[in-house]
Order: sequence, then structure tokens, then C-alpha cells
Amino acid sequence: TLKYREQWSTKLGLILAMAGNAVGLGNFLRFPTQAAENGGAFMIPYMIAMLVIAIPLMWTEWAIGRYGGAKGHGTTPAIFRLLWKNPIAKYIGALGLFIPFVVLCYYIYIESWTLGYSFFSLFGMLPHPDSSLPQDQYLKPFSEFLSWYTKPSLIAYFFFLVTIAFNAYILYKGVSGGIEKFAKLAMPTLFILATILMIRVILIETPNGTAVEGLNFLWHPDFSQLLNPQVWLSAAGQVFFTLSLGFGAIITYASYIKKDDDIVASGLSAASLNEFAEVILGGSIAIPAAVAFFGVMNAQSVAESGAFNLAFVSLPAIFSNLTGGNILGFLWFFLLFFAGATSSVAISMPIVAFLQDEFKLNRKVAVTATVIFTFLVAQIPIFLPKALDEMDFWAGTFFVVLFALLEVLIFFWFFGDKKAWEEINRGGLFKVPRIYYYILKYVTPFSLFVILTAWSIEILPKVLSETTMEVWIARFVMIFILLLLFFLVYIANKRNGESA
Ligand code: PHE
Ligand code: NA
Repeated sequence: TLKYREQWSTKLGLILAMAGNAVGLGNFLRFPTQAAENGGAFMIPYMIAMLVIAIPLMWTEWAIGRYGGAKGHGTTPAIFRLLWKNPIAKYIGALGLFIPFVVLCYYIYIESWTLGYSFFSLFGMLPHPDSSLPQDQYLKPFSEFLSWYTKPSLIAYFFFLVTIAFNAYILYKGVSGGIEKFAKLAMPTLFILATILMIRVILIETPNGTAVEGLNFLWHPDFSQLLNPQVWLSAAGQVFFTLSLGFGAIITYASYIKKDDDIVASGLSAASLNEFAEVILGGSIAIPAAVAFFGVMNAQSVAESGAFNLAFVSLPAIFSNLTGGNILGFLWFFLLFFAGATSSVAISMPIVAFLQDEFKLNRKVAVTATVIFTFLVAQIPIFLPKALDEMDFWAGTFFVVLFALLEVLIFFWFFGDKKAWEEINRGGLFKVPRIYYYILKYVTPFSLFVILTAWSIEILPKVLSETTMEVWIARFVMIFILLLLFFLVYIANKRNGESA
């Protein structure tokens, strides 16, 4: 006897919700900074990682989710247990709750900045320095404003509360009544806003340069960097982040797909929308604007000062100097807010679904519990910026790749390659090319293993040598959350009588 589970109401709604999940701050901030930092060497590893890691993993996550949903489960502790009859499967699956939850706790805070900055732009409350000032003096008020805002100021805290309430409201309305409806409004709006900004940016010309020079800078291939493993790791990290892979969020969304509905074409459509929003739109706004304004010589250093600096310092500074700058700034930050909100509801859903499916809580109670817990843990990244970086590294970078490796192994090796392949293709509008059977079985897990090993050697020692108070607090909180989730998974498993 299966308990009733919600479902997406239309195919278009499903694709837009999944695109909303994927299209986020990563497309408009993380991608352009990564591409610029790595010079023209980024796009080749990016495309390769897309073809051999991201696309196959994307189909895998859609298939795992749809499979679990048909059996009444939308999260990996239960689904991994169904796929692999081993008592540790459910604890590996707990990572599929840990990762999205930890990321949610800082992602939603940064999302709230974009809402705050939308208001400041619209009402002309951002700095308006004299444009004849030398560059560093011109930029200074903008970076001072950002440090004041993120201290955090009272107003930043207010916008954080508004953002969390807005997310809660969508989640309360449910999968088709909340998330799907919101995606149908937010995604078209987002594409329109981004297109307007892209066109306006392409027209920028200053004595320092033009936006077209910015496009050339981004797209000029530099093959000499291809031997640098760091470029490959960055590219792989970006494809994971941008497609929301390894976060458990796609799996939960996919669990609301009907048992025999297509995932092959829908998955590819959602991923294509994300790539359009990333490579075309995301690549044509922030960096070209920065190059036109600051000159190509300074573009690299702008990118190296980080994604936040680009979004909240450089861009407002550029807009402030254009006619209609307040409106352009508003469009920019509101675009980021919609991109962020459709993603933060997606990373909230695994915990909500876990409480609903495994503890039989109703939606309102599950959402309330998730929101309260998010609010509490979010205080750490809000007040301790170094803790934010630590959480981002472990949950948002390292564990996603580990989790992705474990999920392909469980699906293709323990559940079984034939069954996994048939799960992916069942109901498909077309069949996945046969070569992906071999890619999924061998190439993807092997590449993920290589990435993990390289990271462990290149980056782990550096991260682990950080021993400040803030970093230790973040580590203890993360360990506490993980243990709490293990405990909940254990209890759920006991109660549901799947003794293992
Ligand atoms: N894909 C989102 C982005 O590009 C980030 C994200 C990851 C959202 C995981 C949901 C789940 O910003
Ligand atoms: Na994305």
C-alpha cells in the first residue's frame, strides 16, 4: 500500500522546475569568474567534463529518482537501500541529505543579498561616486558598501528573513502547486531579464574597452593551460555545481515523475536550458561588462577578486555609470534572486521529502521543521564568513563528487548495469546512445575517482591546515548534522521495518 505522493502536473512544468533547480547563482557568477580566471583554457575541459561526467550523471540521477518515487521514496537513504541490499547503503544515502542541507544554509543567505541589492538599486541607494575618479577610488564606496551590508547589517538580516519566508511559502504550496508554478513564472522571466542585460552590456563602449573585447578575452582558446590539472579540476567542479549534480536535489525532484514518463529527453532539455543560461547568457554579462569598463588588462584581476566581488562590487559600479543604471542594477539583482530562489527550493526539498516519505509527516510539518533547522544553522555562515567557505568546500565541492561516484557505483555496479540501463531508457522519447552504457559503467566512475584523488592530494592538505576558530565551528556543526542525519536514517529504517 503506497502512500499518495505528489507529481509534476505537466512535462513543461517538470522541465522548467528542473531547469530552475540547475540555473542558479552558479550560471551568472561562478561560471564567468571560473572561465575568466582560467583564461581561455576553460571551455575545452568544461565540454569534455560535460560529455563524460555531467550528462551521464544527469540521466543517472533522474533514473534513480524516478525509480525511488515509484516505490514511495524521494531521497537516497531509502533509494540506495532499495538498489543495494547492504546495511551501509542507507548511511551512504544520508550524504544525499547532508550535502543539500549544508549548501542550503549558506546559499539562501547569499540569495538574500541579491534581494537586498535589488531594492537598493531600484531606489538608487547604492553609491554614486563621481565617474571621473581613478578606478580604485571609484570602486572603493562599492566595496565598502558590501562590507557594511554583509557584516551583517540589520537590513541584510531583514532580507534574509524575507528570503527564507519566501522559500517557505513556495515549499508550503507543494511540488506542483508551489515549485512548478513558481518555475513557470520565474524561468521565462529570468531568460527575458538576462537577454535584456546581455544586449545592453554588448553595447557598452568606454575609453577603456568594449564588451566585444570581453567576449574575445573569454573565448580565446589557450591550449598551453590544458596540461594544468587545476584547470581540469575547476571545470569538473563547475559542471557539477551548475547542473546541481551530486547534491541529491535532482533525485528528489525526479521522484515526482510518473513511473513510465520520459526522462531521457526531459533531462537533456533541462540540462540544455542550463547550458544556454550559463554559456550564452552567463558568459555575456558580467565579464564583458567588466572588460568594457575596466579594460581587458584588468579583467583577470577582477575575476580573481572572486564571484561576489564581480556581482556586488564591479557590476553595480558599472551600472552606476550608465543611463538607467538603477533599473539595470535592479534587473541584474532581481535576475539573480529568481535564479537563486528556484535553486534554494530545490536544495530544501531532500530534507522535506525525507521527513514526508520516511517519517510520514505531512507537508506543512515537514516544511516547518526544515525551515526552522535551516534558519538556525544559517546563523553560522551569516556571522562567520570563514565558516561559509569551509561549508562550501566540504559540502559543495568535495562531497558532491564523492557522492556522485558512490551513486554511479551503486546504480551501475551493485544494482546492475542491465537494470540500470533499462531504468534510464524506460519511457524515453528516444534511447540514450549505446556508448553511454560504457561511459557510465567505466569512464564516469574512473574519472570521478581520478578527480577525487587529485583533489585529495592538491587541495585537502591546504584546507585541513586551516585551524581558526571559525573553521572549527563549521567542522563541528557539519559533523553534528551528519551524525543527526545518520541517527534519523537509523530510526526511519527501524520504524519502516526494513531490517538490514
Ligand atoms: N545549480 C545551481 C547553480 O548553478 C546550484 C545548485 C546546486 C542548486 C545544487 C541546487 C542544487 O547555482
Ligand atoms: Na547552474
